Amino acid sequence: MTGQASTIILGIETSCDETAASIVIRDEEGRGVIRSNVVRSQLDEHAAFGGVVPELAARAHVEWLDHIIAQASREAGIALEDVDAIAATAGPGLIGGVLVGLTTAKALAASLDKPLVAVNHLEGHALTARLTDGVQFPYLMLLVSGGHSQYVLVRGVGDYERWGGTIDDALGEAFDKVAKLLSLGHPGGPAVEQIAKSGDPKRFKFPRPLLREQRLDFSFSGLKTAVRLQAEALAPLSDQDVADIAASFQAAVTEIVATRSRQALERFKAELPDAQPQLVVAGGVAANQQIAAALLKVVAEAGAKLVVPPIALCTDNGAMVAWAGAERLALGRRDGLEVVARPRWPLDTPDMKVDADVA
Ligand code: KG4
Ligand code: ZN
Repeated sequence: MTGQASTIILGIETSCDETAASIVIRDEEGRGVIRSNVVRSQLDEHAAFGGVVPELAARAHVEWLDHIIAQASREAGIALEDVDAIAATAGPGLIGGVLVGLTTAKALAASLDKPLVAVNHLEGHALTARLTDGVQFPYLMLLVSGGHSQYVLVRGVGDYERWGGTIDDALGEAFDKVAKLLSLGHPGGPAVEQIAKSGDPKRFKFPRPLLREQRLDFSFSGLKTAVRLQAEALAPLSDQDVADIAASFQAAVTEIVATRSRQALERFKAELPDAQPQLVVAGGVAANQQIAAALLKVVAEAGAKLVVPPIALCTDNGAMVAWAGAERLALGRRDGLEVVARPRWPLDTPDMKVDADVA
């Protein structure tokens, strides 16, 4: 396989609570076209539990994945026999779900006699901006989802440097936990953002953990505890109390993310003086308008560029997996059927390199 040929890729994503499949075409010039992108969220299955239940997630993937793949093929108008390769998330994530997607991909690859590409879910997020916006390497990625919060320098396909991450909760998880203690339902991010609109962000001065330190790490658990203690102190909460707590929490995390991103861009400019500084945001929290507005200000001040892919491609989906698979395949990468599913798989490991030997 060379970089010149146009390729059709099926991408499968099952690492959390979205069962997703997509067909993407990567053309001769390396541009991507999404022909279908089918996502079935399991929100209803998990709603009663206030979070994702791994066993239920795996079962739902088993039940739905075949249908979702068939739908992706139908909507693209491309038969599975006509795809050039099968890509699937092989980690990191909830292992039961990853196994369902990866095993399905192996079965398809074997029966259709197509190459298999095992994709790191985080690489899917990291490369999406190249599919949607044709972003050139290098760039800085801020991944903020329910499971991850990290800054990653993206130098190339398979070539990542992790500059910082969370030492406790992910940012989306912090939104979800705050929503839960305010009885706002799950997922919490959109609910917190909505109710915060009628709240006073200055009423409570919640802590900004680690903010004075230079490291590019996050910590949200102390903030979450401060929110809980405040809510307990005021109980029973009026609607205005809930709105004020939500707004004050959102103000705290916005300041944290803005400050960290400013520092991360400074580092980018210092370490890569010849590159155009670019910040790419991925993950569900990218939907937050207040955080997005703060980031826009930060990049403007830094003389940098901000890229936020459409939100449906920031959250978990099959197109990002298909695209990451296509990028790897274009560089000659394919994986054997013995490739394993991994619950943990950081981006900055040598085995992410396109020419790494992994089993
Ligand atoms: O990327 P994603 O769909 O799933 C993974 O975690 O992989 O991200 C979901 C997370 C949830 O924690 C959700 O509460 C958060 O993104 N989220 C938001 C918003 N929309 C979704 N957080 C803050 N503000 C939002 N508008
Ligand atoms: Zn994700």
